[in-house]
Amino acid sequence: MATQPTWWKQAVLYELYVRAFRDADGDGHGDLRGVIERLDYVRDLGVDVLWLLPLSPSPLRDDGYDVTDYCDIHPDYGTLDDLRDLIDAAHARGLKVITDLVMNHTSSDHPWFQASRRRADGKADWYVWSDDPERYSEARVIFTDSETSNWTWDEVRGQYYWHRFFHHQPDLNYDHPDVRSTMLDVIRFWLECGVDGFRLDAIPYLYQREGTNCENLPETHAFLKVLRAHVESITPGAFLLGEVNQWPEDTLPYFGDGFDEMPLLFHFPVMPRLWKALAQGDAAPIRWILERTPAIPASCQWVVFLRNHDELTLEMVTEEERAFMYAAYAPEPVMRLNVGIRRRLAPLCDFERPRIELLHSLLMTLPGTPILYYGDEIAMGDDLTLFDRNGVRTPMQWNDGPGAGFSENPTTYAPLLRGATAPQRVNVAAAERDPGSLLHWIRTLIATRKRHPALGGGSFAMLPSPDPALAVFLSTSEDDAVVAVHNLAAEPRRLELAVPALAGRRLRLGFGGRLSQDAPRGTEATADAIPVALEGHGYAWWSPAEAPA
Ligand code: BGC
Repeated sequence: MATQPTWWKQAVLYELYVRAFRDADGDGHGDLRGVIERLDYVRDLGVDVLWLLPLSPSPLRDDGYDVTDYCDIHPDYGTLDDLRDLIDAAHARGLKVITDLVMNHTSSDHPWFQASRRRADGKADWYVWSDDPERYSEARVIFTDSETSNWTWDEVRGQYYWHRFFHHQPDLNYDHPDVRSTMLDVIRFWLECGVDGFRLDAIPYLYQREGTNCENLPETHAFLKVLRAHVESITPGAFLLGEVNQWPEDTLPYFGDGFDEMPLLFHFPVMPRLWKALAQGDAAPIRWILERTPAIPASCQWVVFLRNHDELTLEMVTEEERAFMYAAYAPEPVMRLNVGIRRRLAPLCDFERPRIELLHSLLMTLPGTPILYYGDEIAMGDDLTLFDRNGVRTPMQWNDGPGAGFSENPTTYAPLLRGATAPQRVNVAAAERDPGSLLHWIRTLIATRKRHPALGGGSFAMLPSPDPALAVFLSTSEDDAVVAVHNLAAEPRRLELAVPALAGRRLRLGFGGRLSQDAPRGTEATADAIPVALEGHGYAWWSPAEAPA
C-alpha cells in the first residue's frame, strides 16, 4: 500500500515562475541559477515547498505548458545540472521542490506531434485525430477567448486534431499504450533528477468518450491510479498535487481511497467565493461552498490559494456569481480573460492592506495547504497591456535599480511594471527595510500558522455566526485549537461569540489585525464569550491559553 506522509498538511507552498524570478546570466530571462541565488529569500518567507512552473523546452506560446521535449530544461532556464543544483540547495535549506508535469498535451512543435501528422508513422496514433469535428461535441471549450472549437484542421494529415486548450497544444492520446508508458518514463526521469513531486496539470481531460463532456472519465481515474503506484515505487510519499478545476463532488473521486490516487488536490471553487464574500461583506458564499465540500480521506488534503499564474478562474461559479464577480473585480473588459479575471491579488484589493491581510488570514485558516504566488507578498501590480495572462507574470521586483534586481539586461522577457507599481516603488529591498511592510506581515502570518498544528492538520468547522459578516473558523487538533474570526464587512463589528466546542476553556488572542482600539478589548477570554471587536476587514485568531501563541 502507498505510504502517506502528512508533513504537507502544515506546509505552505510558494509558486514561482522561473522565467520571472531572477536572471543570473543576464539574458533577460529568469533562470534556475537565479532561483538558487534567491533561495534564502524563499526560505525566510517560511514556506516549505517551491512549485516551479514548467521547465522543459518549449516555444513558450503558453509559458512552457506547451512542451517540445519532456526530458530536458528550456535553454533560457539552464540545464539539468542547474536543476539538480537547485534541488540540492533547496533541500539544504529544508525546502522541497515540485515541478509542473504537463501530461495532457504537448506543443504542436513537439517531434511526436510532427511525426503523428504522417498517417504511416509509428506515432500516428499518439494524438487524437478525427475526420469529424463534431465528435465529442459535449466537451466545453476552455480558452473561450482564443479558441472556438476543440478541433483544429491539419493540412498534412488531412484530419482534425483534438485540443482542450490552445490549438497549438494537441492532446496526447491516452488510449495508446505507448503514450501511457512514455509518460510514466518521463515521471521516472524527473523523480530520478531529485524532484519531490509534481503539480499535475489539467488531469481531468486525459481521455475522451462520445456522449460525455470528456472530463473526469473512469479511464482517467484508472490511469492516475497507475501513475500513483508508479510514483510510489520510485519516490514513496512524493508530493502529488492534481489540478482539477471541478466542483467538489467531481473532484472527490480523484482522492481515490485515500492512498491510490491523488494525495493533494486544489480546491478551486472555494477561491472565487473568498473574493465574493469580501466584495459582499458577507461570509455566506464561503459557508455555501464549505457546506458543499464533502469530507475527504484523512490521508488527503485540499490545497487552497487566492491567486496564481492564470486568470482568477470563474468556471466553478453560477452565471449570477460570475456577473457579480466581473462587476466587482473586473469592471473594464480588458481585465477579463476567458471565464475569469486576469489581475493580480493586490490590484484586485485596490492595494488596500486590510483587504489583502483579511484574504490571507482566511487562506491560512481554511482547511487545506495554502499556496502563495510569487510577488503577491510584496503587493506587486500587474500589466493589463500585456497579452493573455502575461500581465500577472512580470519580473519579480527585488530593488529599485534599473533592472529591478531581476536582470542586468536592459531588455527583459517582459517589461518591468511602470507607474505606481513600478520597481522604484514596490520592491523586496524596500519591504525588508520597513518593519510594517506586507512582506514582514506575511512572514509573521506563516510563522504563526506553522506554530499551530490545528491549522492544516486538524479538523475544521465553519461555526454558525451571530452576524452574517463574520466568518468564524474553528480548527482543532489534539493539543491545539484556533478560533479565527474574520470580519468581511467594511464596517466595524462588536459582539460576543460563544464557541461551545471549547466551552469553559480560557482563550488568548494570538494574532490579529484591525482590532478595534476604541472598544474594551481583552487578550484573554473564555470560549463562552469571546469579545469580537473588529474594525472593517479585521480578523483575530484565538487559541486556548496553553496552546502555542
Ligand atoms: C495551466 C495553464 C495552462 C493550461 C494548459 C492550466 O491548467 O495552469 O497555465 O495554460 O493548463 O496547459
